[in-house]
Amino acid sequence: QQSKLDASRLRIISTKEPTQPIPNDQLVFGKTFTDHMLTIEWTKEEGWKDPVIRPYGPLTLDPASCVFHYAFELFEGLKAYRTIDDKITMFRPDMNMKRMNKSAHRICLPTFDSDELIKLTGELIKQDKHLIPSGKGYSLYIRPTLIGTTSTLGVGKPDKALLFVINSPVGPYYKTGFKAVSLEATDYATRAWPGGVGDKKLGANYAPCVLPQLQASERGYQQNLWLFGPEKYITEVGTMNVFFVFKNSKTGKKELVTAPLDGTILEGVTRDSILTLAKENLSPINWEINERYFSINEVIDRSKNDELVEAFGSGTAAVVSPIKEIGYRDYKIKVPLLPGEQSGELTKLVAKWISDIQYGNVQHGNWSKI
Ligand code: COI
Repeated sequence: QQSKLDASRLRIISTKEPTQPIPNDQLVFGKTFTDHMLTIEWTKEEGWKDPVIRPYGPLTLDPASCVFHYAFELFEGLKAYRTIDDKITMFRPDMNMKRMNKSAHRICLPTFDSDELIKLTGELIKQDKHLIPSGKGYSLYIRPTLIGTTSTLGVGKPDKALLFVINSPVGPYYKTGFKAVSLEATDYATRAWPGGVGDKKLGANYAPCVLPQLQASERGYQQNLWLFGPEKYITEVGTMNVFFVFKNSKTGKKELVTAPLDGTILEGVTRDSILTLAKENLSPINWEINERYFSINEVIDRSKNDELVEAFGSGTAAVVSPIKEIGYRDYKIKVPLLPGEQSGELTKLVAKWISDIQYGNVQHGNWSKI
């Protein structure tokens, strides 16, 4: 009989060396971690074992563990915020747990009860509560991870796994903060493809994307814009989803557009939140909110017709990342910014909508979990 993941079986081993918070101005994204981590082992025979919160530290793994050879690894990224009234909340953790289970199922790792992992993550956060930074732009980045640990070079379904959660106090993802970035459109490499796993948060999706990013940066761009197929559809930017704003010059009608979830696009929680908020706030004032295919050629054409209004990336880490320029072949497409500012009008507004909810200025349904 396999046991289910059960938060009530949690054991806590507290650190003997608690640390002090790092000052906000010294936080570098994902470089330092809180005092504790959560680990839960799984075996095919027993199912999920007792969850343990223990001092943060190295894992001991057999070098034959299948994670090292065949990339049995998936992860999530979500954040906990210290709100303006000093409560600690997680932003839409149910969405991350749902996606984590989908990723697990896709690479034959064990699935689990999402609510139990949310509870356990809550306990982990509580344990290191004093290390969660405060202030706008600051938060605790939570990294749930699941790996296959079967010791074998045979390729097959793992019969052992380890789920762990580590937490990193963070400030702005980019050292430059909320600053518009320049992108190089990449059409010589492909991030994801139909029938592939681009919609899953697998570590194996990320490593191959670094070289094209470096190549873009050698040519003077900060990030790359992933194109797909002969149509040169715009899919994602760097490790984020991407949004464009167009304006129909005849009707004056504005459109917010992002690529549809066709299996090649990561099902971003920030992406979903932006679409929801845009439908609530912009549809009533006659905007179109669309998940549809759009290509770099459309962006070029609309830029020529003064119909390109703004563009931004969206993700948990950077939340909203404004775009100022896109290089593609001989084109240098300028994306308008507000005069003297680092983003367009809607980009700024979207960033405020989200941050108001995350820091507790505004309530939105059950998006913030205490
Ligand atoms: C995000 O939250 O935007 C990411 O996916 C970034 C993460 C890989 C650091």
